[in-house]
Amino acid sequence: MADKLRLAVFLSGGGSNLQSIIDKCAEDYIPAKVALVVSSTRKAFGLTRAKKAGIEGVVYRRKKFPDGKTADTWLVNLLDDHKIDFIALAGYLKMLPPPVVKAFKGRIYNIHPALLPKFGGKGMYGLKVHRAVIEARESESGVTIHKADEIYDHGEIVAQEKVPVFPEDTPEELAARVLKVEHSLYPKVLKTVSERLLKEMEK
Ligand code: GAR
Repeated sequence: MADKLRLAVFLSGGGSNLQSIIDKCAEDYIPAKVALVVSSTRKAFGLTRAKKAGIEGVVYRRKKFPDGKTADTWLVNLLDDHKIDFIALAGYLKMLPPPVVKAFKGRIYNIHPALLPKFGGKGMYGLKVHRAVIEARESESGVTIHKADEIYDHGEIVAQEKVPVFPEDTPEELAARVLKVEHSLYPKVLKTVSERLLKEMEK
């Protein structure tokens, strides 16, 4: 039996969630290893974090491929070559291709910096989310972790944690409060997921 699962993390930005996952894997809190980081842009600082941790980082830009089918196949093969067991989206701003969603059905997780189903959907990421929450005069926001499917910020919610929103909050202040919770909640969920997947593989 495998004692550690192989996780691929997809991102587009700073990668602070990636870092919390790498750290919690290194501590053996999550029985998994980040075996691959896929970024939608070469500019993502998350790639630097991956390199520093000795993890292979790959830039995946669909436009670079002659057609969508070739792009899909390339990504499915990449995940296959790295023997990936499950996927964590951590600030990934693109849609996963349907063949990847199909191949990893029920084994793709996403983190969103608000209480879904509110403040989600295409274009709702980063500070835009927090700005919308403040403009709607919400008294609370939070973190949602859900299974990912072919629709943005959709899929079964597996965990949520609330944070207060104060009237004088700037989007940056709210983002920082939410991000702090992200860094503890995502590893917690990935730990539970890994333990369940390992048990299922034992059967
Ligand atoms: C996080 O706040 C994450 O919840 C959000 O992007 C940020 C990435 O931060 N994701 C979305 O908005 C998805 N709709 P990080 O790169 O520092 O982990």
